[in-house]
Amino acid sequence: MADKKDSLSITDNRTGKSYELEVTDGTLRAMDLRQIKVDDNDFGLMSYDPAYKNTASTRSQITFIDGGQGVLRYRGYPIEQLAEQSSFLEVAYLLYNGELPSRSELAEFQHSITHHTMVHENIRELIDAFRYDAHPMGILTSTCGALSTFYPDAKNLDDANVRKLQMQRLIAKMPTIAAYAYRHRRGLPYVYPDNDLSYAGNFLNMLFKMTEVKYQPNPVIEKALDVLFILHADHEQNCSASAMRSVGSSHTDPFSASAAACAALYGPLHGGANEAVVRMLTEIGSKSNIKNYVDKAKKGEVRLMGFGHRVYKNYDPRAKVIKKLAYQVFDEVGKNPLIDLAVELEKIALEDEYFVSRKLYPNVDFYSGLIYQSMGLPMDIFPVLFAIGRTPGWLSQWEEMLTDREQKIARPRQVYFGHGKRDYVPLSERE
Ligand code: CMC
Repeated sequence: MADKKDSLSITDNRTGKSYELEVTDGTLRAMDLRQIKVDDNDFGLMSYDPAYKNTASTRSQITFIDGGQGVLRYRGYPIEQLAEQSSFLEVAYLLYNGELPSRSELAEFQHSITHHTMVHENIRELIDAFRYDAHPMGILTSTCGALSTFYPDAKNLDDANVRKLQMQRLIAKMPTIAAYAYRHRRGLPYVYPDNDLSYAGNFLNMLFKMTEVKYQPNPVIEKALDVLFILHADHEQNCSASAMRSVGSSHTDPFSASAAACAALYGPLHGGANEAVVRMLTEIGSKSNIKNYVDKAKKGEVRLMGFGHRVYKNYDPRAKVIKKLAYQVFDEVGKNPLIDLAVELEKIALEDEYFVSRKLYPNVDFYSGLIYQSMGLPMDIFPVLFAIGRTPGWLSQWEEMLTDREQKIARPRQVYFGHGKRDYVPLSERE
């Protein structure tokens, strides 16, 4: 029996029986509840937790969040330090491998990623088949899934080197697919990757290169994009990472599982919020309309997009870095007029009792869309940028899940409250 300090005593008032359950790391094992039964035929007690609001689905060593204090760390390193001093590929290496790379390890990793950026020409044709106005997130989701048909070796999940190769392929190819989706939308020819450029620089090249022989990325934009990728790289058990883990737990290949993660990210409550923020600010239009919009949010008629978070009950540390970054980008490319509106909206909301009492603060998506818009990107590609940044996180979560001996196929229980048994009524006898 566990030490008294590390246990929980429960008395089942239905039977009068008492139980002592072990408490480890501030959690109860839900399976320990199963012994609590009314009689031998009882299935045993379960916990009921729609949307996993208070259920840990895994033990993880990747990302730490203290939502109350507004703290985010990847493998122990504070997000502010990584955003300031690291690079996206170094962070990707850190997330997947657990430690920062040495100089040679980083060089080797960068080389591998750079040399996996090309996609098969059939992928280009596949993207061509989408309608001219297809949402790039739909293209990304489908193409991610389609990659599994190009790499059947990815199914060999028992081999760590095979898993690592797919991780490199996905991190490398996401910007290429994203850029193709963007160029398709604009009716522009696709641009092949340029191996001389950095990860972010090459992405800008594939997005924006026109007739010039060699594309030269603007260093301020290139750096800002790299920092944005770092800020999005992981966020522990969020909706898309949980989708990745859940779908991956059936031992499907990582391309199919990433397609599921992309699909989860697409939603406006998750990665689609950056797009929704810019649409909301555009709809608000002027400072004089802010109060009215905030009132509508308080009545539940609309949500303030880019506000609130399941985990953060304080200012999202990523939003702080992004707000600063926004001004750096605006100094380079000109101010996005929506920023003044965003700052005013934030001020009004943060002084309002409704938002204060619910601890609703700006999240990562509140300012990021304004930066993307200033870079000349259309709104519907914003979630795709989130997906590129999040890919190392998805794959690190997937790797951790596959190598965790406690994990099995994800399969939640339910509380059934539908009809009891009833007999089939033939169609002819129904009203
Ligand atoms: N505007 C107005 N009210 C809100 C908002 C908002 N953005 N977010 C939450 N609330 C209210 C909500 O109505 C509820 O009020 P009450 O207690 O009176 O019913 C209370 O705050 C708690 O909200 P909840 O929906 O129970 O919180 P949740 O943890 O389930 O939802 C959220 C988290 C992020 C989905 C939600 O805050 C939201 O919809 N925000 C807007 C969308 C958004 O910005 N999403 C990006 C999230 S950060 C990037 C990412 O990781 O994906």
